[in-house]
Amino acid sequence: MSGLVVTGWGTAVPSRVVTNAELSATLDTSDEWIVERTGIKERRVGSTTSALAIEAGRAALDVAGLTGSDIDLVILATTTGDRIVPATSPTVQDALGISGGAMDLNAACSGFVYGLVTASGLLATGLSRILLIGAETLSKITDWTDRSNAILFGDGAGALVLEATEGPGDLLGWDLGSDGSATNILRCEHGSTIEMDGKEVFRRAVRVMVESSNLALERAGVSIDDIDLVVPHQANLRIIQAACQRLGVSEERAAVVIDRYGNTSSASIPLALVDSLESGRVSSGDLLLLTGFGAGMTWASAVLRWAR
Ligand code: COA
Repeated sequence: MSGLVVTGWGTAVPSRVVTNAELSATLDTSDEWIVERTGIKERRVGSTTSALAIEAGRAALDVAGLTGSDIDLVILATTTGDRIVPATSPTVQDALGISGGAMDLNAACSGFVYGLVTASGLLATGLSRILLIGAETLSKITDWTDRSNAILFGDGAGALVLEATEGPGDLLGWDLGSDGSATNILRCEHGSTIEMDGKEVFRRAVRVMVESSNLALERAGVSIDDIDLVVPHQANLRIIQAACQRLGVSEERAAVVIDRYGNTSSASIPLALVDSLESGRVSSGDLLLLTGFGAGMTWASAVLRWAR
């Protein structure tokens, strides 16, 4: 059996910044309300999912010192592909010259951690290198006239290069979950925009993040006190704070980029992770807890040792 190591990382965001002040010009809201209730100050809007994924993927390949021809598979976690059929990952595969396969994965905001666990299984059974990308253009399924939704979402992408290694590797434990009876609390039908019961999503999100994190920690054989950095899905700063409190970890140990990017669904965990890497917050040997939740509902957590 082979384990997994992370050898490359990268991100991409559109250049257009939409501030709370800009939203307040057309919506009955304010910077103060948005910051206090969500922690979001601005978000990036524009581009396409494939273009953001390609840029983030290329950056991750560069860090790993690889080219597309070294990659056996690209997994693109997204809810906002360029089109319904074909998937968006073949566009990424072609642009980056990836010699292997390509698949999209939709587990909403849990998609990146679902992708990490999927990649781990495929690396254990024979693949050598996988490019895992989370990329979204939520702006195209956001109703910009609805103040309860428009303030939350943004566009962006993040990517990791994952390679097989002898032995157990650095993914120490994980948990995946789903509850399809909650489909109606957060959904987007074909040709429509996101509809959400924000309060109910909030309530469930904190509970599933905590339960799922604890399962992943237990399976990794570590405790929350061993975790150097929590990398949570960035949906609402208050959800992150409540989850940290219930997990028994200081919120100082959580990676937070929601102030700059809003909720970017599948892209939010890699955006937060790479931000922490690039700002020197992560050292070799650190233990990271990645945890996300999203529409479905789905949830996913992983304990990752940072070995670089
Ligand atoms: N600006 C000003 N007022 C707003 C507003 C806005 N952007 N959006 C809603 N309001 C109003 C509401 O109309 C309501 O007014 P009322 O009391 O007169 O009815 C009041 O603010 C309170 O609304 P409420 O929905 O109770 O606020 P909240 O504190 O629950 O915050 C969310 C709303 C959406 C920010 C919050 O519920 C949330 O983040 N939920 C989770 C959403 C999420 O994470 N989704 C993605 C999951 S992956």
